[in-house]
Amino acid sequence: MGYPRGSRGRPGASVTGACTLIAVFTFASLAAAELPAPEDGHRPLRGNPVTAAPDPAPPPPFDGYVNAPAFEVVPRRGELKFFPCAACHDQMAPNPERRKLFSPHPAALDHGDGRFWCLDCHAAEGRNELHTLAGERVSFDRADRVCAQCHYTPHRDWAFGAHGKRVADWQGDRRIYGCAHCHDPHAPAVRPRVPEPPPPVRAGLARPELEEHHEVEGQ
Ligand code: HEC
Ligand code: HEC
Ligand code: HEC
Ligand code: HEC
Repeated sequence: MGYPRGSRGRPGASVTGACTLIAVFTFASLAAAELPAPEDGHRPLRGNPVTAAPDPAPPPPFDGYVNAPAFEVVPRRGELKFFPCAACHDQMAPNPERRKLFSPHPAALDHGDGRFWCLDCHAAEGRNELHTLAGERVSFDRADRVCAQCHYTPHRDWAFGAHGKRVADWQGDRRIYGCAHCHDPHAPAVRPRVPEPPPPVRAGLARPELEEHHEVEGQ
């Protein structure tokens, strides 16, 4: 069994094939155009009218991962030097333009390779809060929800306890540090660290092999 053989080398085979295709297409389009309304309720799939448009409602706000152990996030607002932001920003019109800032606060952004800007995370109106790209408002205490939009994997790991750090006890209520406790949202890259030099050796316990290694390294 298998494919019918022998047609490949036959002269005129491709011409015949093409003609058959054209014929089939012509017939199909004619047939589609002239088909009477189906009496038995059956219609070719493509002839079915689209009855309902996709639901335009936005997805419900994110409410945690299924089966993640409950936790509380250590708040951040009290740590911010420039909070409340509204103290100044209520007197200023928001300026969404990407520009070199001369603000009194740190203003440079080294995050995202230029693909986003301050007001993609900071709410333009009501500067005391952050917001998601979908416009959901987020407190500085739950900045992780802003990060989660683009860093799903570390965020999920964090919620389950495989990324980040838990405060104090390993038992009882679970309190964990938020993303910004460790990462500066304006320059978050994890920088490589210079290895520490080896500890000094107790007097009389010289380690010539280490000394030698150092000389080589120092060259
Ligand atoms: C002491 C006053 C002051 C406080 C407090 C302050 N800002 Fe600003 N901020 C400024 C000024 C002034 C500028 C405009 C700088 C410029 O145009 O170069 C600015 C600009 C900005 C911008 C750029 C977008 C825009 O609308 O101009 C962002 C984002 C921003 N601030 C966020 C914050 C956040 C978040 C806080 C609170 C954590 C905060 N600021 C607190 C004075 C302040
Ligand atoms: C990726 C999201 C994101 C972007 C983009 C971003 N920020 Fe922030 N920003 C944060 C978060 C989160 C915090 C809270 C940090 C913390 O808890 O220490 C913060 C804090 C701040 C603060 C308060 C710092 C303090 O110690 O008082 C200022 C001011 C600020 N941002 C200004 C800006 C400006 C200006 C820009 C654009 C140049 C910008 N941010 C871009 C997320 C962002
Ligand atoms: C709109 C998308 C977006 C949001 C929101 C966002 N990030 Fe990022 N982040 C990126 C992109 C893109 C990169 C990679 C480019 C770069 O290194 O700047 C990145 C890089 C990073 C890195 C460096 C990764 C590495 O391999 O060194 C860290 C850490 C990080 N983000 C943490 C955060 C934290 C914390 C927040 C929330 C305050 C956050 N991000 C919010 C898009 C985002
Ligand atoms: C207790 C400190 C701490 C907290 C809290 C924390 N991180 Fe990290 N994160 C780190 C360290 C340390 C590394 C570097 C790990 C490495 O180099 O192997 C890292 C690496 C990363 C990276 C780059 C490497 C990767 O896995 O892609 C991203 C992105 C990141 N973290 C995002 C987040 C986000 C988002 C949150 C909050 C949900 C968060 N982190 C919370 C300490 C923390």
